[in-house]
Amino acid sequence: MFSAPQKRGSIREGDKTKMEGYDYAKCIEISKRVRWDIDKDVIRGRLFDLSQKFLPDGLSKVNQLDFLNEEERKFLSQIQGRTYANMFGFVERFIVAKILEITRGHWLGDQIALEALVRFSDEELKHQELFRRIEPMLAVEMPEGYRFLHQPDAVAAAVLQKCTWAVLALILEIELFTQEHYRQSIEPDESLSPFFKDIFFFHMKEETTHALMDELEWLREDKKLTSKERDRAIDELIELVTAVDGILQAQSKADVEYFFKVRGASVPNEKMDLIQEVVLKAYRWQYIFSGAEHPRFRTSLGSLITEAQGERINNALGLIR
Ligand SMILES: [Fe+2]
Ligand SMILES: [Fe+2]
Repeated sequence: MFSAPQKRGSIREGDKTKMEGYDYAKCIEISKRVRWDIDKDVIRGRLFDLSQKFLPDGLSKVNQLDFLNEEERKFLSQIQGRTYANMFGFVERFIVAKILEITRGHWLGDQIALEALVRFSDEELKHQELFRRIEPMLAVEMPEGYRFLHQPDAVAAAVLQKCTWAVLALILEIELFTQEHYRQSIEPDESLSPFFKDIFFFHMKEETTHALMDELEWLREDKKLTSKERDRAIDELIELVTAVDGILQAQSKADVEYFFKVRGASVPNEKMDLIQEVVLKAYRWQYIFSGAEHPRFRTSLGSLITEAQGERINNALGLIR
């Protein structure tokens, strides 16, 4: 996947072109233009309607479970949608902490960059509030028994032990797939809950500048590293992705157990392993591969690493598949 990187350093030239007009000042301008309010724009007094799907098949993969009837597939898409919202609220905890930390590099320098990154953090704090608000709304509508297993602060503390280069790589991957999921899968699906769809429409609008700033900051960080430090950073990125996979394995298991707790009377128990396999595959696509395979992520990463390092990352990803 990353086996044919551009020559190291070429990102700097290429980036000037790619980023033309998309510097920190542009990020501030977009941030002001797309800004939204949780109540006035997103929630608007609405409740969730369980007669509609939440996550589209392209993300949930429930269409691969042809032995489930329409109601069962819809319920599985709603469970995955609830986890999807919780996962964003959860990863945004370490995203805000890391972005606030890197603002330090601009405190006494580029005030435009500082403002852009403060706006970025402010937006992610608002997104966390949005996702915190919708979880109890879903809990009221959906049957009892759902569990989101991981504590945002505990996981963020572990993630932030890793070096900035590795954490920024993970953050860029997340912020690219956020936009990709909406544009490729959520937006075109007419059968989804309009409320659920709106949440991710508004979320995506404020995410476009985040990926641009992640790229700028990742390049800044990369320039500070020696070859040896970068090599170690790649190991840490692999460790982070492996840890994300551990979270996905546990959450997919909890989500399938919840599905059976509610729908177990109609779905035979021997199908549990197959459903578990498909849900884990869906989660790995949602949170790992749709970002790791994103062309912009591949280009940026490929330009910073050697061929051998690309192989190491490919091998690690191969173990997850
Ligand atoms: Fe966000
Ligand atoms: Fe973001």
